[in-house]
Amino acid sequence: MCGIIGFFSDSLSKEKIIDSLKRLEYRGYDSAGLAIIEDKKIKRYRCKGEIKELEKKLKNIQIKANICIAHTRWATHGKPSEENAHPHTDCTGKISIVHNGIIENYLELREKLKKKGHVFKSDTDTEIFAHLIEDKLNKNLINAVESAVKEIKGNYAFAIISSLEPDKIIAVKKGAPVVIGIGFDEYFVSSDIPAFLKYTNKAIFLQDNDICVISKNGIEIKNNDKEVKRLVQNIKWDSEQAEKKGFSHFMIKEIFEQPEVFEDTILGRFNEEKGEIHIEGLDTEKLKRIKNIRLIACGTSYHAALAAKYLIEKYAGISAIAEIASEARYSEPVIEKNTLLITISQSGETADTIAAFNNIKKKVDFTIAIVNVVGSTLSRLADYVIYTHAGPEIGVASTKTFTSQMAVLYLLTFQIARIKKKMTTDLIKKYLKNLRKMPEFIIEILKSKDEIKKIADKYYEQKDFLYYGRNVNYPIALEGALKLKEISYIHAEGYPAGEIKHGPIALIDDKVPNIFVAPESRLYGKIINNIEEIKARGGKVIVITNNKNKKISKYVDDVIYIPDVDEDFYPLLAVIPMQLLAYFIGVKRGINVDKPRNLAKSVTVE
Ligand code: AGP
Repeated sequence: MCGIIGFFSDSLSKEKIIDSLKRLEYRGYDSAGLAIIEDKKIKRYRCKGEIKELEKKLKNIQIKANICIAHTRWATHGKPSEENAHPHTDCTGKISIVHNGIIENYLELREKLKKKGHVFKSDTDTEIFAHLIEDKLNKNLINAVESAVKEIKGNYAFAIISSLEPDKIIAVKKGAPVVIGIGFDEYFVSSDIPAFLKYTNKAIFLQDNDICVISKNGIEIKNNDKEVKRLVQNIKWDSEQAEKKGFSHFMIKEIFEQPEVFEDTILGRFNEEKGEIHIEGLDTEKLKRIKNIRLIACGTSYHAALAAKYLIEKYAGISAIAEIASEARYSEPVIEKNTLLITISQSGETADTIAAFNNIKKKVDFTIAIVNVVGSTLSRLADYVIYTHAGPEIGVASTKTFTSQMAVLYLLTFQIARIKKKMTTDLIKKYLKNLRKMPEFIIEILKSKDEIKKIADKYYEQKDFLYYGRNVNYPIALEGALKLKEISYIHAEGYPAGEIKHGPIALIDDKVPNIFVAPESRLYGKIINNIEEIKARGGKVIVITNNKNKKISKYVDDVIYIPDVDEDFYPLLAVIPMQLLAYFIGVKRGINVDKPRNLAKSVTVE
């Protein structure tokens, strides 16, 4: 996620700007930059890579400004490069902006502005907003910003300065966070508190659709053209707590970010009223020809791939195989004609996934990479890339990136099914409406964290856990077991529930907790039989099921409820309590859940 810091300060210095930028590093970034107004002119300094590169550029520069906007960029549109680094400017160079978020209709706006003679210097969605302000400019900068905002769609936070009115900073918020720091005789505009916490603990959190102007007159905020007052809050966190937004660990912060991340992933990618899906850049003609799909990935990303296999076969009616990349890299697969290879990776840098991709790519018709990190190796190797827009994930255990991968895979499945006329438009509309509601369902599950913690407290000393699911919920059993292993060091295995009698049943005693993903779906009766097999042998059973299924609580030891949805959306919801359970068990066992032993966030070696 990009980081914004803006200063309105008589005590501005290079060191102060760099220090604040560094305090936003935890958000992840691939380039950085700043703009100041000096002698009524905007000066920009930008670089690809780390903030220390920016420091090098500024080495012999004296900053004599009192207004500055600075930025750490986490690429979403356009690779990490100096040209794509923020701040961006309009044609005249008199307006400069930094941005966090996504402008959904940027392509359409870009074309319109190009026709009016605007020339763009970057591949970003951000740059269009500077040009849009320029286009609307008729003496008054604030009016121009207000009317430019009315034309953009998406989630965004902006900080804007202009040499035409060099005595103010304007901040705009919708979706993405903006917090205004109020110092003794200075103001800050930021994506997050740590950037200015050293100077003040007084802050105003802007609300959606707020446009805030900071000038010598203080702070003025308008919302939908009406002046509003916002509460000044006293921040009690220290800077480390502030980076984690008051959460104890990045992992739990990232689990709680999932509703927002899910919205970002699906943003602008479908219209549920029309039943249309628009995955940017994806060639629908090519998709028409596809008869087989191979999915390759590692770890959590493989679990998303495996869930997709079930969805693709059911809804798009074409054969799909999901393979673990460390195996696929040395396999000699027989690939049918018209095969699409999909690779899934949070980092886009996993060595096994890259090797498997290279092994198979030459044999297939075309390739898609579903990745989170823009400009990563896999995103460059594949014919098409679909970004998950989950923002940086700091915790080693993948959580929010899994839900974002699933969001993309649902959309891709429905897109292929639509092109191949395997789903009716009505069904697609219904399922897209389902996807739209997922964030509110995830919020509902997150509210039950205390009940999940109680279950964690009850079982945290056990040495083995078994997880089960069937069909599209089987990969969720694998994911639940992986999460627990990684961050609690407890041995855990995931199984297809029907496999119990073929071996794992020998492990059942009165201690091993057995966790079932058991919503009332097509195979519910079968899962109940499996639960009976365990109960008959004195095993402990914990069930994740849908809200309406109250009767099950009489038969099992513990129940975790998730909202009632159409059956193939349960994986998306069932994974959330799995993450929480693993988290609470890990914490209770005193493990550093953000950095568990022996693990790396990105496995770039074989
Ligand atoms: C899961 O919690 C782990 N972080 C790990 O299994 C991870 O999913 C795997 O290494 C693949 O990483 P990637 O998505 O970056 O390719």
